[in-house]
Amino acid sequence: MSTFSDSLTADRKVDAATPVECLRLAGDDTRALHSVVHSFELADLTAVLVDEILFRCDPPGNAEPVTIALDVTRGEERVSASFLLQAGRPVGLNEADGPAALFRLEYDVLDLVRELFGPSTPGGPANRRTELRFVPESMTVEGVRPLGSIMAAAGTVLTGCSSDHPGLARLAVRHDSDKWGGLHWFASLYERHLRHLRDHPVRLLEIGIGGYDHPTLGGGSLKMWKHYFPRGLIFGVDLHDKSGLDQQRLHTLRADQSDPAQLTEIAEKHGPFDIVIDDGSHINEHVRTTFRTLFPHVRTEGLYVIEDLWTSYAPGFGGSEDPAACDSTTLGLVKRLVDDLHYEEQPVKPTDGVGPSLAGLHLYRNIAFLEKGRNAEGGIPGWIRH
Ligand SMILES: C[S@@+](CC[C@H](N)C(=O)[O-])C[C@H]1O[C@@H](n2cnc3c(N)ncnc32)[C@H](O)[C@@H]1O
Repeated sequence: MSTFSDSLTADRKVDAATPVECLRLAGDDTRALHSVVHSFELADLTAVLVDEILFRCDPPGNAEPVTIALDVTRGEERVSASFLLQAGRPVGLNEADGPAALFRLEYDVLDLVRELFGPSTPGGPANRRTELRFVPESMTVEGVRPLGSIMAAAGTVLTGCSSDHPGLARLAVRHDSDKWGGLHWFASLYERHLRHLRDHPVRLLEIGIGGYDHPTLGGGSLKMWKHYFPRGLIFGVDLHDKSGLDQQRLHTLRADQSDPAQLTEIAEKHGPFDIVIDDGSHINEHVRTTFRTLFPHVRTEGLYVIEDLWTSYAPGFGGSEDPAACDSTTLGLVKRLVDDLHYEEQPVKPTDGVGPSLAGLHLYRNIAFLEKGRNAEGGIPGWIRH
């Protein structure tokens, strides 16, 4: 991704019928899942599943290095992968021979797909085979620790294979997002407004990837969203090239949020979106432009979120110390939306607002959740005394 247009061209493959796209969309329809897992080579499906497991595993806690083998089967076919785990490093793939693994895990491909891309289910042992290959005779005094390491490592991989749903605050800390910590406490508010979408194949766009012009820093919140929405497709937009952060189900795009043409091109190619989040420049005029441009590309009952409302009062961000300066600030936009929400109740109905497609407005300190929807109940009738 070197330029804005290049990034769009490269990203066209996002919409192709790739295994990951088909898997995340198949959801909980057993017949659709069955059809998808028989449409691709088992090795290609396994590559997608292994990528997902690597991403979802907690950091290993085992002191000694341990290899855990995973067999994915489809009838007589079998594809194996081998994970290497040791405390202090992220879970990796072991190029060494699989059979050396002291713990093996086996899933029928359909069951593993359902675990990773289906709706969450309470964990249970009924969809997998496990085999501990540790030989007790070799257990010396020191040998006790390897057994503990094997058990811990096996637990880590199994957790990565499950549809267990960690909370958003935990995921924010895990993936280094500032949405939960000393500066902001947004994660619990997001949880309140997004939890019902968790099992859906949402399309989420966040403006502002983080890390500014550093090519591989940032992306904490995008990873957090990818983990939170196991079937989600996550897009991040930034002024800078962040393609070093691209992953399966996580795509970076380059654009200036103050340019409506660039935002529109992205939205037409990748939207409509279920969720749009503005955590970019926080320059008031940019936030207003971005809202005007992208709100129309949020689907009905989707959400548009604006973070860091405090810059409304910060002249360095184009804000104003005067709270009444509503024509140019982000909070001025939000205040206007309160009136737009009630457009049908006004004697002279505004024609230039987003009222007809604004269903709700949830305002908290420093963050606003704007709900898209059909706002057309007709207003309180004129024969009721006003
Ligand atoms: C606060 S960081 C985003 C943090 C990230 N959302 C998170 O929660 O981990 C802001 C990002 O916005 C980007 N940015 C600044 N101005 C921008 C603009 N005009 N258009 C797009 N992105 C911009 C910066 O490069 C920076 O990476």
